[in-house]
Amino acid sequence: MINIVIFGPPGAGKGTQSSKLLAQFGLIHLSTGDLFRSHIKNSTALGLEAKSYMDKGNLVPDSVTIGMLKSKVEENPTAKGFIFDGFPRTTPQAESLDAFLKSLNTEISACLSLQVPDEELIKRLLERGKSSGRADDADEEVIKNRLGVYMRETNPLKSFYADQSKLEEVEGVGTIEEIFGRLSAAIDKHA
Ligand code: AP5
Ligand code: MG
Repeated sequence: MINIVIFGPPGAGKGTQSSKLLAQFGLIHLSTGDLFRSHIKNSTALGLEAKSYMDKGNLVPDSVTIGMLKSKVEENPTAKGFIFDGFPRTTPQAESLDAFLKSLNTEISACLSLQVPDEELIKRLLERGKSSGRADDADEEVIKNRLGVYMRETNPLKSFYADQSKLEEVEGVGTIEEIFGRLSAAIDKHA
């Protein structure tokens, strides 16, 4: 199996690049943000809980997020591998993911970390906010909170993956095709 973590701050291009990578490598894309948004759309209890955190740009509690992610993996027992997008975001999430994949006799192949300056991230998210309907894109203060949460809680996971020799830092500014080429090359090193 090839299991990829696509990593980076809000607006780095994780979702955009995942949809290209899944086609190229035959992987299943699991975005916790997309899963939460689908729960919100369907007005589930989980969606209602997640929305109260997401609209402010805060993280949904690990207890909710980890359980949701595991059941999605279990729904796909014949998968060639997964692209984890927006997960893990905290150290407990990363540790749970490692233990869970180990129980399935597999592991993370690589963590691809997209590097994009804050100015560019804010510009991209405000632009998307004009039409996305995402409450967390519409307000610059919420976007800045998301970036702060990323720096405090998620960015430290780079060393978690670097310690396992799985971290690949990839320049995330350029055309979508250029960045896709860099990511594909990084995956080939670990596949
Ligand atoms: P989530 O949905 O994961 O959002 P995010 O990480 O904040 O960031 P985005 O999805 O907005 O950005 P992206 O990196 O996917 O970029 P995209 O390709 O869209 O999470 C939302 C919320 O859910 C969190 O705040 C939290 O509350 C909760 N949550 C989710 N996972 C969680 C977890 N594990 N634990 C706890 N809580 C969790 O691109 C962005 C924009 O830029 C697009 O408009 C795109 O068209 C454009 N763009 C892309 N590439 C380029 C390029 N090369 N040049 C110019 N523009 C580009
Ligand atoms: Mg996304």
